[in-house]
Amino acid sequence: MGGKQRIATKPIKGMRDFFPEELRLRKWLFDSWRSVAAAYGFQEYDNPPLEPEALYIRKAGDEITGQLYNFADKSNRRISLRPEMTPSLARMVMAQAKSLRFPLRWFSIPQCFRYERMQKGRTREHFQWNMDIVGLDTVVAEAELMSAQADFFRRVGLPCDVDSPGIVFRVSNRKILESFLLDAGLSFEKFAAVCVIVDKKDKIGEQETRKLLTEVGVQESLADKILTLLGIRSLASLTELLGTENPGVTELQELVEHAKHMGFAHLIQIDISVVRGLSYYTGIVWEVFDTGGVVPRSIAGGGRYDKLLNSLGGPDLSMVGFGMGDVVLLLVLAERGLLPELKTGITDVVYPMDAAQFGIAQRIASYLRRQGRNVSVDYTKRRFKHVIRGAEEAQADRLWILGSSEIEAGQVKVRQLDGSRKEELVPLETFTK
Ligand code: HAM
Repeated sequence: MGGKQRIATKPIKGMRDFFPEELRLRKWLFDSWRSVAAAYGFQEYDNPPLEPEALYIRKAGDEITGQLYNFADKSNRRISLRPEMTPSLARMVMAQAKSLRFPLRWFSIPQCFRYERMQKGRTREHFQWNMDIVGLDTVVAEAELMSAQADFFRRVGLPCDVDSPGIVFRVSNRKILESFLLDAGLSFEKFAAVCVIVDKKDKIGEQETRKLLTEVGVQESLADKILTLLGIRSLASLTELLGTENPGVTELQELVEHAKHMGFAHLIQIDISVVRGLSYYTGIVWEVFDTGGVVPRSIAGGGRYDKLLNSLGGPDLSMVGFGMGDVVLLLVLAERGLLPELKTGITDVVYPMDAAQFGIAQRIASYLRRQGRNVSVDYTKRRFKHVIRGAEEAQADRLWILGSSEIEAGQVKVRQLDGSRKEELVPLETFTK
Protein backbone atom coordinates (compact mmCIF):
# COMPACT_ATOMS: atom_id res chain seq x y z
CA MET A 1 0.00 0.00 0.00
CA GLY A 2 2.88 2.35 0.83
CA GLY A 3 2.76 5.94 2.02
CA LYS A 4 1.56 5.58 5.59
CA GLN A 5 4.05 4.92 8.32
CA ARG A 6 2.91 3.27 11.49
CA ILE A 7 4.26 5.12 14.52
CA ALA A 8 5.71 3.28 17.48
CA THR A 9 2.94 2.75 20.00
CA LYS A 10 5.19 2.24 22.98
CA PRO A 11 6.21 5.29 25.00
CA ILE A 12 9.88 6.28 25.09
CA LYS A 13 11.99 3.70 26.93
CA GLY A 14 11.61 4.02 30.67
CA MET A 15 8.44 6.10 30.47
CA ARG A 16 4.96 4.86 31.28
CA ASP A 17 1.58 5.40 29.68
CA PHE A 18 -1.26 5.42 32.14
CA PHE A 19 -4.33 3.72 30.76
CA PRO A 20 -7.49 4.54 32.76
CA GLU A 21 -7.16 1.53 35.05
CA GLU A 22 -3.55 2.44 35.83
CA LEU A 23 -4.44 6.07 36.30
CA ARG A 24 -7.13 5.09 38.79
CA LEU A 25 -4.43 3.35 40.80
CA ARG A 26 -2.15 6.37 40.56
CA LYS A 27 -4.97 8.64 41.69
CA TRP A 28 -5.71 6.35 44.61
CA LEU A 29 -2.04 6.49 45.60
CA PHE A 30 -1.87 10.28 45.28
CA ASP A 31 -5.09 10.63 47.31
CA SER A 32 -3.54 8.49 50.06
CA TRP A 33 -0.35 10.59 50.01
CA ARG A 34 -2.39 13.81 50.07
CA SER A 35 -4.57 12.63 52.96
CA VAL A 36 -1.58 11.72 55.11
CA ALA A 37 0.19 15.00 54.29
CA ALA A 38 -2.98 16.91 55.18
CA ALA A 39 -3.29 14.99 58.44
CA TYR A 40 0.15 16.32 59.42
CA GLY A 41 -0.73 19.89 58.45
CA PHE A 42 1.36 20.01 55.26
CA GLN A 43 0.56 22.37 52.38
CA GLU A 44 0.94 21.30 48.75
CA TYR A 45 3.18 23.19 46.31
CA ASP A 46 4.43 22.62 42.78
CA ASN A 47 6.86 24.08 40.25
CA PRO A 48 7.83 23.55 36.60
CA PRO A 49 9.33 20.20 35.54
CA LEU A 50 12.03 22.10 33.63
CA GLU A 51 14.78 23.75 35.63
CA PRO A 52 18.18 25.32 34.95
CA GLU A 53 20.68 22.48 34.70
CA ALA A 54 23.00 24.28 37.13
CA LEU A 55 20.61 23.45 39.96
CA TYR A 56 21.80 19.83 39.83
CA ILE A 57 25.52 20.17 39.21
CA ARG A 58 27.39 19.26 42.39
CA LYS A 59 31.07 18.90 43.05
CA ALA A 60 30.86 15.68 45.04
CA GLY A 61 30.07 13.64 41.92
CA ASP A 62 26.45 12.75 42.73
CA GLU A 63 25.16 9.99 40.49
CA ILE A 64 22.07 12.07 39.75
CA THR A 65 24.14 14.64 37.83
CA GLY A 66 25.09 11.97 35.30
CA GLN A 67 21.45 10.96 34.91
CA LEU A 68 20.00 14.29 33.87
CA TYR A 69 17.62 14.61 30.96
CA ASN A 70 19.35 17.83 29.91
CA PHE A 71 19.51 19.88 26.75
CA ALA A 72 20.11 23.35 25.36
CA ASP A 73 16.89 25.18 24.54
CA LYS A 74 16.43 27.35 21.45
CA SER A 75 18.18 30.24 23.20
CA ASN A 76 21.03 27.96 24.21
CA ARG A 77 20.11 27.88 27.89
CA ARG A 78 21.14 24.69 29.66
CA ILE A 79 17.92 23.08 30.88
CA SER A 80 17.13 19.85 32.68
CA LEU A 81 13.98 17.94 33.47
CA ARG A 82 13.86 17.72 37.26
CA PRO A 83 15.43 14.48 38.52
CA GLU A 84 14.20 15.27 42.05
CA MET A 85 12.24 18.00 43.81
CA THR A 86 14.59 19.11 46.58
CA PRO A 87 16.66 21.73 44.70
CA SER A 88 13.47 23.23 43.22
CA LEU A 89 11.98 23.45 46.69
CA ALA A 90 15.14 25.20 47.87
CA ARG A 91 14.85 27.62 44.95
CA MET A 92 11.23 28.46 45.84
CA VAL A 93 12.03 28.92 49.51
CA MET A 94 14.93 31.22 48.60
CA ALA A 95 12.67 33.30 46.35
CA GLN A 96 10.37 34.20 49.23
CA ALA A 97 12.55 33.56 52.27
CA LYS A 98 11.88 37.07 53.60
CA SER A 99 8.11 36.79 53.64
CA LEU A 100 7.49 33.11 54.39
CA ARG A 101 6.50 32.10 57.90
CA PHE A 102 8.79 29.35 59.15
CA PRO A 103 8.79 26.50 59.84
CA LEU A 104 7.20 25.46 56.57
CA ARG A 105 5.57 22.10 56.22
CA TRP A 106 5.20 21.54 52.51
CA PHE A 107 4.55 18.57 50.28
CA SER A 108 4.40 17.84 46.57
CA ILE A 109 3.97 14.98 44.10
CA PRO A 110 6.23 15.84 41.14
CA GLN A 111 7.05 13.61 38.21
CA CYS A 112 10.83 13.22 38.22
CA PHE A 113 13.07 12.16 35.34
CA ARG A 114 16.38 10.32 35.58
CA TYR A 115 18.23 8.63 32.76
CA GLU A 116 18.81 5.43 34.76
CA ARG A 117 19.79 1.96 33.76
CA MET A 118 16.45 0.17 33.63
CA GLN A 119 15.97 -2.45 36.33
CA LYS A 120 13.20 -3.75 38.52
CA GLY A 121 11.98 -0.72 40.46
CA ARG A 122 14.03 1.72 38.39
CA THR A 123 12.44 3.62 35.55
CA ARG A 124 13.28 6.86 33.80
CA GLU A 125 10.35 8.74 35.20
CA HIS A 126 8.55 8.31 38.46
CA PHE A 127 6.18 10.22 40.67
CA GLN A 128 7.65 11.10 44.00
CA TRP A 129 5.81 12.14 47.14
CA ASN A 130 7.94 14.77 48.88
CA MET A 131 7.36 16.03 52.39
CA ASP A 132 9.78 18.63 53.72
CA ILE A 133 10.03 20.79 56.79
CA VAL A 134 11.94 24.05 56.44
CA GLY A 135 13.31 26.03 59.36
CA LEU A 136 13.05 23.53 62.20
CA ASP A 137 16.46 22.39 63.34
CA THR A 138 15.60 19.74 65.88
CA VAL A 139 15.10 16.03 65.45
CA VAL A 140 11.34 16.33 66.04
CA ALA A 141 11.16 17.26 62.35
CA GLU A 142 12.69 13.93 61.28
CA ALA A 143 10.37 12.15 63.72
CA GLU A 144 7.26 13.86 62.27
CA LEU A 145 8.26 12.92 58.73
CA MET A 146 8.95 9.29 59.57
CA SER A 147 5.74 9.09 61.54
CA ALA A 148 3.83 10.36 58.49
CA GLN A 149 5.50 7.69 56.37
CA ALA A 150 4.57 4.98 58.87
CA ASP A 151 0.96 6.23 58.88
CA PHE A 152 0.93 6.06 55.12
CA PHE A 153 2.15 2.44 55.14
CA ARG A 154 -0.53 1.50 57.66
CA ARG A 155 -3.12 3.24 55.53
CA VAL A 156 -2.28 1.17 52.45
CA GLY A 157 -2.24 -2.02 54.46
CA LEU A 158 1.49 -2.67 54.94
CA PRO A 159 1.79 -4.11 58.42
CA CYS A 160 3.68 -1.85 60.83
CA ASP A 161 3.07 -3.82 64.01
CA VAL A 162 5.77 -4.99 66.39
CA ASP A 163 5.44 -8.67 65.54
CA SER A 164 6.05 -8.69 61.82
CA PRO A 165 6.54 -5.24 60.41
CA GLY A 166 6.34 -5.04 56.63
CA ILE A 167 8.76 -2.17 56.38
CA VAL A 168 11.94 -1.00 58.05
CA PHE A 169 13.47 2.45 58.43
CA ARG A 170 17.21 2.09 58.01
CA VAL A 171 18.55 5.14 59.79
CA SER A 172 21.93 6.77 60.18
CA ASN A 173 23.43 10.18 60.79
CA ARG A 174 25.97 11.64 58.41
CA LYS A 175 27.47 13.62 61.27
CA ILE A 176 28.90 10.37 62.59
CA LEU A 177 30.89 9.58 59.47
CA GLU A 178 31.69 13.25 59.00
CA SER A 179 33.24 13.78 62.43
CA PHE A 180 35.05 10.48 62.08
CA LEU A 181 36.63 11.57 58.80
CA LEU A 182 37.32 15.17 59.78
CA ASP A 183 39.06 13.87 62.93
CA ALA A 184 41.13 11.67 60.65
CA GLY A 185 42.20 14.78 58.73
CA LEU A 186 39.96 14.56 55.66
CA SER A 187 38.41 17.71 54.18
CA PHE A 188 34.62 18.29 54.04
CA GLU A 189 34.69 17.93 50.21
CA LYS A 190 36.31 14.52 50.57
CA PHE A 191 33.65 13.55 53.09
CA ALA A 192 30.87 14.34 50.57
CA ALA A 193 32.67 12.26 47.93
CA VAL A 194 33.08 9.40 50.42
CA CYS A 195 29.31 9.45 51.03
CA VAL A 196 28.58 9.10 47.33
CA ILE A 197 30.88 6.05 47.19
CA VAL A 198 29.63 4.48 50.42
CA ASP A 199 26.06 4.78 49.14
CA LYS A 200 26.92 2.25 46.44
CA LYS A 201 28.48 -0.25 48.85
CA ASP A 202 25.54 -2.66 48.85
CA LYS A 203 25.65 -2.79 45.08
CA ILE A 204 29.41 -2.95 44.48
CA GLY A 205 30.64 -4.83 47.55
CA GLU A 206 33.37 -4.08 50.12
CA GLN A 207 36.38 -4.68 47.84
CA GLU A 208 35.24 -2.20 45.23
CA THR A 209 34.17 0.32 47.88
CA ARG A 210 37.64 0.16 49.43
CA LYS A 211 39.18 0.64 45.98
CA LEU A 212 37.02 3.67 45.15
CA LEU A 213 37.73 5.19 48.57
CA THR A 214 41.49 4.99 48.02
CA GLU A 215 41.01 6.48 44.57
CA VAL A 216 39.55 9.66 46.09
CA GLY A 217 42.53 9.87 48.44
CA VAL A 218 41.44 7.93 51.54
CA GLN A 219 44.33 5.93 53.02
CA GLU A 220 43.82 2.19 53.10
CA SER A 221 43.93 1.96 56.89
CA LEU A 222 41.28 4.66 57.13
CA ALA A 223 39.18 2.93 54.47
CA ASP A 224 39.19 -0.18 56.68
CA LYS A 225 38.09 1.85 59.70
CA ILE A 226 35.31 3.40 57.63
CA LEU A 227 34.11 -0.06 56.62
CA THR A 228 34.07 -1.19 60.28
CA LEU A 229 32.03 1.87 61.25
CA LEU A 230 29.58 1.17 58.45
CA GLY A 231 28.99 -2.30 59.84
CA ILE A 232 27.43 -0.97 63.05
CA ARG A 233 23.77 -1.87 63.55
CA SER A 234 22.85 -0.60 67.01
CA LEU A 235 22.96 2.47 69.20
CA ALA A 236 24.71 0.47 71.90
CA SER A 237 27.67 -0.43 69.65
CA LEU A 238 27.78 3.14 68.41
CA THR A 239 28.13 4.62 71.88
CA GLU A 240 30.66 1.94 72.69
CA LEU A 241 32.80 3.03 69.74
CA LEU A 242 32.21 6.79 69.78
CA GLY A 243 31.20 7.63 73.36
CA THR A 244 28.04 9.25 74.65
CA GLU A 245 28.99 12.81 73.69
CA ASN A 246 29.04 12.31 69.91
CA PRO A 247 26.40 14.76 68.52
CA GLY A 248 25.44 12.42 65.68
CA VAL A 249 24.78 9.58 68.11
CA THR A 250 22.85 11.84 70.51
CA GLU A 251 20.53 12.89 67.69
CA LEU A 252 19.82 9.27 66.83
CA GLN A 253 18.99 8.59 70.48
CA GLU A 254 16.61 11.56 70.48
CA LEU A 255 14.96 10.31 67.32
CA VAL A 256 14.32 6.91 68.86
CA GLU A 257 12.81 8.60 71.95
CA HIS A 258 10.38 10.59 69.80
CA ALA A 259 9.61 7.49 67.76
CA LYS A 260 8.60 5.67 70.94
CA HIS A 261 5.96 8.32 71.66
CA MET A 262 4.81 8.30 68.06
CA GLY A 263 4.57 4.53 67.86
CA PHE A 264 7.15 3.61 65.24
CA ALA A 265 10.37 3.03 67.24
CA HIS A 266 10.13 -0.70 66.47
CA LEU A 267 10.44 0.09 62.76
CA ILE A 268 13.84 1.75 63.16
CA GLN A 269 17.02 -0.15 62.37
CA ILE A 270 20.19 1.80 63.03
CA ASP A 271 22.46 1.20 60.04
CA ILE A 272 25.53 3.36 59.59
CA SER A 273 26.02 2.10 56.03
CA VAL A 274 23.05 4.24 54.99
CA VAL A 275 24.47 7.56 53.83
CA ARG A 276 22.28 8.30 50.76
CA GLY A 277 23.61 9.11 47.32
CA LEU A 278 22.83 12.82 47.35
CA SER A 279 25.70 14.91 48.65
CA TYR A 280 23.61 17.69 50.20
CA TYR A 281 22.58 15.72 53.29
CA THR A 282 24.19 16.87 56.54
CA GLY A 283 22.48 15.03 59.39
CA ILE A 284 20.09 12.16 59.98
CA VAL A 285 19.41 10.18 56.82
CA TRP A 286 17.06 7.25 56.31
CA GLU A 287 15.75 4.85 53.76
CA VAL A 288 12.64 2.72 53.87
CA PHE A 289 12.75 -0.88 52.72
CA ASP A 290 10.20 -3.63 52.39
CA THR A 291 11.11 -6.40 54.83
CA GLY A 292 9.74 -8.97 52.38
CA GLY A 293 12.75 -8.12 50.28
CA VAL A 294 11.06 -8.81 46.96
CA VAL A 295 12.24 -5.48 45.62
CA PRO A 296 15.78 -4.73 46.72
CA ARG A 297 15.28 -0.99 46.24
CA SER A 298 14.33 1.68 48.72
CA ILE A 299 10.67 2.63 48.78
CA ALA A 300 11.62 6.04 50.13
CA GLY A 301 14.63 8.02 51.23
CA GLY A 302 15.21 11.23 53.06
CA GLY A 303 17.28 13.21 55.43
CA ARG A 304 18.37 16.55 56.79
CA TYR A 305 20.12 18.97 54.48
CA ASP A 306 20.95 22.10 56.43
CA LYS A 307 23.40 23.62 53.96
CA LEU A 308 21.71 23.27 50.58
CA LEU A 309 19.96 26.62 50.67
CA ASN A 310 23.15 28.34 51.70
CA SER A 311 25.17 26.59 49.01
CA LEU A 312 22.73 27.92 46.40
CA GLY A 313 23.30 31.47 47.68
CA GLY A 314 20.35 31.59 50.05
CA PRO A 315 20.04 32.11 53.80
CA ASP A 316 21.03 29.62 56.48
CA LEU A 317 17.89 27.57 56.91
CA SER A 318 17.68 24.01 58.03
CA MET A 319 15.68 21.65 55.85
CA VAL A 320 14.67 18.04 56.19
CA GLY A 321 12.46 15.84 54.08
CA PHE A 322 11.93 12.65 52.15
CA GLY A 323 10.88 11.39 48.75
CA MET A 324 8.79 8.26 48.20
CA GLY A 325 8.50 6.98 44.64
CA ASP A 326 5.45 5.32 43.14
CA VAL A 327 7.33 2.63 41.19
CA VAL A 328 8.91 0.62 44.00
CA LEU A 329 5.93 1.15 46.25
CA LEU A 330 3.44 -0.23 43.72
CA LEU A 331 5.68 -3.24 43.09
CA VAL A 332 5.77 -3.96 46.81
CA LEU A 333 2.01 -3.55 47.19
CA ALA A 334 1.42 -5.79 44.16
CA GLU A 335 3.72 -8.52 45.52
CA ARG A 336 1.84 -8.44 48.80
CA GLY A 337 -1.58 -8.47 47.16
CA LEU A 338 -2.40 -5.06 48.57
CA LEU A 339 -3.45 -3.26 45.42
CA PRO A 340 -7.05 -2.12 45.79
CA GLU A 341 -9.80 -2.94 43.30
CA LEU A 342 -10.89 0.43 42.10
CA LYS A 343 -14.23 1.21 40.51
CA THR A 344 -14.55 3.43 37.46
CA GLY A 345 -16.72 5.85 39.36
CA ILE A 346 -19.57 5.52 36.84
CA THR A 347 -22.78 5.01 38.79
CA ASP A 348 -25.41 4.99 36.05
CA VAL A 349 -25.57 3.98 32.41
CA VAL A 350 -28.44 5.33 30.31
CA TYR A 351 -29.30 3.29 27.24
CA PRO A 352 -31.49 4.80 24.51
CA MET A 353 -32.29 1.88 22.21
CA ASP A 354 -32.27 4.08 19.13
CA ALA A 355 -31.70 7.66 18.06
CA ALA A 356 -35.33 8.63 18.65
CA GLN A 357 -34.70 8.27 22.39
CA PHE A 358 -31.43 10.27 22.52
CA GLY A 359 -33.21 13.45 23.63
CA ILE A 360 -34.98 11.86 26.56
CA ALA A 361 -31.78 9.98 27.45
CA GLN A 362 -29.97 13.30 27.68
CA ARG A 363 -32.68 14.72 29.93
CA ILE A 364 -32.47 11.75 32.27
CA ALA A 365 -28.67 11.93 32.32
CA SER A 366 -28.76 15.67 33.14
CA TYR A 367 -31.26 15.07 35.91
CA LEU A 368 -29.16 12.32 37.46
CA ARG A 369 -25.95 14.38 37.18
CA ARG A 370 -27.63 17.24 39.02
CA GLN A 371 -28.28 14.71 41.77
CA GLY A 372 -24.56 13.98 41.95
CA ARG A 373 -24.57 10.73 39.98
CA ASN A 374 -21.87 9.91 37.40
CA VAL A 375 -23.67 9.06 34.22
CA SER A 376 -22.53 7.57 30.95
CA VAL A 377 -25.01 7.55 28.07
CA ASP A 378 -24.56 4.56 25.78
CA TYR A 379 -25.23 5.97 22.29
CA THR A 380 -24.07 2.89 20.41
CA LYS A 381 -27.56 1.44 19.77
CA ARG A 382 -25.93 -1.99 20.06
CA ARG A 383 -27.68 -5.11 21.27
CA PHE A 384 -28.93 -5.24 24.82
CA LYS A 385 -26.55 -7.98 25.99
CA HIS A 386 -23.56 -5.86 24.91
CA VAL A 387 -24.94 -2.85 26.74
CA ILE A 388 -25.44 -4.88 29.90
CA ARG A 389 -21.92 -6.25 29.67
CA GLY A 390 -20.50 -2.76 29.13
CA ALA A 391 -22.43 -1.37 32.11
CA GLU A 392 -21.32 -4.25 34.32
CA GLU A 393 -17.70 -3.82 33.26
CA ALA A 394 -17.98 -0.15 34.14
CA GLN A 395 -19.20 -1.36 37.55
CA ALA A 396 -22.24 0.92 37.39
CA ASP A 397 -25.03 0.49 39.94
CA ARG A 398 -27.93 1.03 37.58
CA LEU A 399 -28.87 0.76 33.93
CA TRP A 400 -31.63 2.98 32.55
CA ILE A 401 -33.31 1.31 29.59
CA LEU A 402 -35.18 3.48 27.10
CA GLY A 403 -37.09 1.40 24.58
CA SER A 404 -39.86 2.76 22.38
CA SER A 405 -42.60 0.84 24.22
CA GLU A 406 -41.54 2.15 27.65
CA ILE A 407 -41.33 5.71 26.35
CA GLU A 408 -44.76 5.44 24.76
CA ALA A 409 -46.09 4.36 28.13
CA GLY A 410 -44.40 7.44 29.65
CA GLN A 411 -41.88 5.37 31.57
CA VAL A 412 -38.29 4.31 31.75
CA LYS A 413 -37.08 0.96 33.02
CA VAL A 414 -34.24 0.94 35.54
CA ARG A 415 -32.35 -2.22 36.31
CA GLN A 416 -30.13 -2.74 39.38
CA LEU A 417 -26.75 -4.13 38.40
CA ASP A 418 -26.01 -5.68 41.78
CA GLY A 419 -26.73 -9.17 40.49
CA SER A 420 -30.36 -9.08 41.64
CA ARG A 421 -31.59 -7.97 38.19
CA LYS A 422 -34.32 -6.08 40.01
CA GLU A 423 -36.23 -3.81 37.63
CA GLU A 424 -38.54 -0.92 38.24
CA LEU A 425 -40.50 1.46 36.05
CA VAL A 426 -40.06 5.18 36.69
CA PRO A 427 -42.45 7.79 35.21
CA LEU A 428 -40.72 10.06 32.69
CA GLU A 429 -42.22 13.17 34.27
CA THR A 430 -39.81 12.62 37.20
CA PHE A 431 -37.05 13.98 34.97
CA THR A 432 -38.81 17.11 33.77
CA LYS A 433 -39.30 18.50 37.24
P1 HAM B 1 16.07 9.56 46.25
O1 HAM B 1 16.52 8.53 47.23
O2 HAM B 1 16.93 9.81 45.08
O3 HAM B 1 15.82 10.90 47.07
O4 HAM B 1 14.63 9.15 45.73
C1 HAM B 1 13.59 8.91 46.64
C2 HAM B 1 12.74 7.75 46.17
O5 HAM B 1 12.30 7.98 44.84
C3 HAM B 1 13.46 6.41 46.09
O6 HAM B 1 13.47 5.77 47.33
C4 HAM B 1 12.65 5.67 45.05
O7 HAM B 1 11.45 5.13 45.63
C5 HAM B 1 12.21 6.77 44.12
N1 HAM B 1 13.07 6.80 42.93
C6 HAM B 1 14.22 7.49 42.74
N2 HAM B 1 14.72 7.27 41.53
C7 HAM B 1 13.88 6.41 40.90
C8 HAM B 1 13.83 5.79 39.62
N3 HAM B 1 14.76 6.01 38.71
N4 HAM B 1 12.81 4.96 39.35
C9 HAM B 1 11.84 4.73 40.24
N5 HAM B 1 11.82 5.29 41.46
C10 HAM B 1 12.82 6.12 41.79
C11 HAM B 1 15.49 12.09 46.52
O8 HAM B 1 15.14 12.24 45.38
C12 HAM B 1 15.48 13.23 47.51
N6 HAM B 1 15.33 14.48 46.76
C13 HAM B 1 14.37 13.03 48.53
C14 HAM B 1 14.29 14.14 49.54
C15 HAM B 1 13.28 15.03 49.68
N7 HAM B 1 15.23 14.43 50.41
C16 HAM B 1 14.83 15.48 51.10
N8 HAM B 1 13.64 15.85 50.69
